[in-house]
Amino acid sequence: MKVSLIENDFKNVESELEIFIVDDIENSSDKDILESIGFEEKDESIALLPEIGRIYVGCEDENYESIAIAISTAIRKFKTTKFETAKIELKDMNLKALVEGALLGEYEFTQYKSEKKKSKKQELLICVPKITPEIKKSFEESKIISKAVNKTRDIVNTTPADCYPKIMAQTAKKIAKDNDLECEVFGEKYLAENGMNAMLSVGRASVHESKLIHLSYKPENAKKKVVLVGKGLTYDSGGLSLKPADYMVTMKSDKSGASAVLGIMSAVSKLNLPIEIHGIIGAVENMIGGDAYKPDDVLVARNGKTIEVRNTDAEGRLVLADCLCYAQDEIEDIDYIFDFATLTGACVVGVGEYTIGIMGNNTVLKREVVANTLEAGEYATTLPFNRFLRKTIKSEIADICNVANTRYGGAITAGLFLDNFINEENKDKWVHFDIAGPAYVEKAWGYNPHGASGAGVRATLQFLKTIE
Ligand code: BES
Ligand code: ZN
Ligand code: ZN
Repeated sequence: MKVSLIENDFKNVESELEIFIVDDIENSSDKDILESIGFEEKDESIALLPEIGRIYVGCEDENYESIAIAISTAIRKFKTTKFETAKIELKDMNLKALVEGALLGEYEFTQYKSEKKKSKKQELLICVPKITPEIKKSFEESKIISKAVNKTRDIVNTTPADCYPKIMAQTAKKIAKDNDLECEVFGEKYLAENGMNAMLSVGRASVHESKLIHLSYKPENAKKKVVLVGKGLTYDSGGLSLKPADYMVTMKSDKSGASAVLGIMSAVSKLNLPIEIHGIIGAVENMIGGDAYKPDDVLVARNGKTIEVRNTDAEGRLVLADCLCYAQDEIEDIDYIFDFATLTGACVVGVGEYTIGIMGNNTVLKREVVANTLEAGEYATTLPFNRFLRKTIKSEIADICNVANTRYGGAITAGLFLDNFINEENKDKWVHFDIAGPAYVEKAWGYNPHGASGAGVRATLQFLKTIE
């Protein structure tokens, strides 16, 4: 759907439908109509009155989330009609919420439906009497951000038959070409030659070659350097520590961290961010077979640390370990290094399926990340490291074990595992985003449809925008 900003008074703009977001019936000029149809100012309450060409949609609050949910509810209704244009008045409403709510809410993933819906030419007109430069900028930014989120959703929703490491690399190359970024792709030969045996082992039983992907955006005026690392398990069967049938379903979403990095990289040059940004992805498929890596194996990572494998389903941390080492070997003077991963079921159990778990060593930075995530319209909370949980991943045989010796605190012990692959000079610059919950939810929530949500994209772009 097209969303346009129109410089004109609402009443002068021609349109077949009018959308009204109602947060207070008492003070609404349409009080009588609304009361007569029993309308309530609640999330997802909606009334379409085609005779008078109006959609009323309830709104519980004036914040980003309520407005985004309201407009997405209205847009979904608009899409069921034959009308081609709908208008809404900006008033003092949050424009960001309106644009992002509309574009994220109208997203549908229909690639695997045999009957394609005819895409209608529909347009939402946001009417504002005077378009100031700030309004114009905010509008354009929100469109770029929404496009990046929807791109991420598309990649995550693609099945493992259609999206395997080589395809991820091709997607990265296409993003690089369209956005003037550099893109390097390394195969298993590179991994073997550079001691990246942790990552290499995870992909060994797959028919698809593992790929290490490195995208970079280097604007001339760059003041800071940011590295984004993504877990790209195009499928996670669990490996020989095979997942139970019910838990394997949705594991196409184990590439959500990598997909978020791709989405973010597709937006950075369009947003003209004055920052050097690197996107590094470990694209791997975790399968079973005679050649599979095994519980009891000891793997040597790129930084020389040895890892005792006790569970082949804790594979994401092995891939990320080598990718984090690669990033720190190849990129000097990093200001921020963030990783994104659907790393643990424990994070979902701990904080629920809508919230990102934020971990790291720098309390101030973690707080900033959480604040920016909330500001961007996503949910996040910090999960604290401590010395006792750190001890639970010690190994009797190797330097470290890929699973903890305790049943508790699994999200944190996974974060602590990654910390072993962060160099001393980068300890305070690193933040780990466990997006296992919100990356893929099997029911629609707010303006997010069933499936991939694009978790981490808006959060990170918001953080990047604030870097000075
Ligand atoms: N990809 C999973 C984590 C996951 C679970 C993501 C649910 C999204 C939804 C990860 O590789 C995994 O299997 N982790 C194990 C770790 C355990 C073996 C220590 C888990 O969480 O059970
Ligand atoms: Zn796993
Ligand atoms: Zn996984």
